[in-house]
Amino acid sequence: MAAPRCGKHRAVSTEDASAKALAEAFLSQIESRETLVGIVGLGYVGLPLALTFLERGFRVLGFDVDPKKIEALEAGESYIKHLGTERIAAAAKDDRFGVTTDFARLAEPDAVLIAVPTPLTKQREPEMKYVVQTSEVLSKYLRKGQLAVLESTTYPSTTDELMRGILEEGSGLKCGVDFFLAYSPEREDPGNAKFDTATIPKVVGGVGPEATEIASKLYEAAIDMVVPVSSSRVAEATKLTENIFRAVNIALVNELKVIYDRMGIDVWEVLDAAATKPFGFMKFTPGPGLGGHCIPLDPFYLTWKAREYKTTTRFIELAGEVNISMPNYVIEKLKDALNDRERALKNAKVLIMGIAYKKDIDDPRESPSFELIELLLHHGAKVAFHDPHIPTIPKMRSWPKLPELTSVELTPENVKSYDVVLLSTDHSAVDYEALLEHAQLVVDTRGVYRQPHPKVVKA
Ligand SMILES: NC(=O)c1ccc[n+]([C@@H]2O[C@H](COP(=O)([O-])OP(=O)(O)OC[C@H]3O[C@@H](n4cnc5c(N)ncnc54)[C@H](O)[C@@H]3O)[C@@H](O)[C@H]2O)c1
Repeated sequence: MAAPRCGKHRAVSTEDASAKALAEAFLSQIESRETLVGIVGLGYVGLPLALTFLERGFRVLGFDVDPKKIEALEAGESYIKHLGTERIAAAAKDDRFGVTTDFARLAEPDAVLIAVPTPLTKQREPEMKYVVQTSEVLSKYLRKGQLAVLESTTYPSTTDELMRGILEEGSGLKCGVDFFLAYSPEREDPGNAKFDTATIPKVVGGVGPEATEIASKLYEAAIDMVVPVSSSRVAEATKLTENIFRAVNIALVNELKVIYDRMGIDVWEVLDAAATKPFGFMKFTPGPGLGGHCIPLDPFYLTWKAREYKTTTRFIELAGEVNISMPNYVIEKLKDALNDRERALKNAKVLIMGIAYKKDIDDPRESPSFELIELLLHHGAKVAFHDPHIPTIPKMRSWPKLPELTSVELTPENVKSYDVVLLSTDHSAVDYEALLEHAQLVVDTRGVYRQPHPKVVKA
């Protein structure tokens, strides 16, 4: 089905003229940096986006429902470690930067960029309540000439059906005539030293050509490369495609890891060698399972939407199955390794290395480490953890029964005292040589130890 276009059935040309005039007024403000950019949801995506617009000369007004985040930002403190305190402290001192929990102020910004959560429900269906709530509150304050852009990852048609419907109904304004609406997916890669918000190309798809144009121009003023596409649905599908591609390829190398292990072949050596092929191969690395707010969840947004079209997403389901089975595989390998040393998993002391879902960040969301801890506890093991970026295990919605644990120090005595170290996240801040020297046994799920070693079992 073709994406409905705002203004497709415009009856009168005065509407076109009005939309054109509003779009021109919007565009003329960008150059002079008069545009006030509103960001709703100041999390891993929204906060760096807000800083990027500020640093590129715009006035920025950030909104969040969490008063603690607003207080921290007003005090110049960062609650996202990899963003560092300097940028936040500089923003707090800048009178072009404001943050608030007062959503009545949504009438102020010229552009409202929305980066609220899009998780899955318990039934693994899209949880759209944050997008819906934000659209409802925005609809109360929406004014003529405003641009709203959804950045949250979601299924195709969220912007031009769900959001558009709520915004038009609540405001009485017409999309593409009185206000503009677009979708621009976030490709933030927390902890990536090579790319940040300003340097990652940004895909933009509007509901109607004017929206694509003005949203693209706004982003071009802050982001080095903008890629306009023909509709919000194309932009929504682009983001899902990228994450499905990752989920499927990670599942593939995880499956190969299991097969090659049985054959006595080291998958990490294979992948390094395969990666020397200068074309037609892209390297993905195996691990203890899938983690993070995106890759384990986003593909299922398409699975859900595909049902409406009587279609199944077999690759997505299969990749999910393989990736979900990885923590069990790791625990089986760990059990075997202990067994070979005439030890049982019951009552064994296990040190989990790394709680974050990937290296060098402090984000534990959907981390496979939690699944590993739960399985270990289920088998009667005694679990401790070390993570240089996460001092204590926070309360996690998906793992409500996890014990309250605090990161232990990596002293030689401490390391020696564990029956096994389970290397779950390969943070750069850890001295892996020293760890191996003092550990009794290391189960390595990240391929940190490339050379065979009597104390190392790869899993
Ligand atoms: N984290 C990533 O690396 C990443 C990358 C690409 C895309 N995304 C997508 O971006 C979106 C946001 O993800 P995130 O990682 O920034 O999440 P997050 O949880 O870090 O931040 C979301 C913020 O929104 C706030 N919030 C919740 N409900 C709100 C509401 N009704 N109104 C205003 N604020 C509200 C929360 O308090 C929080 O500060 C999601 O759709 C996610 O899938 C995330």
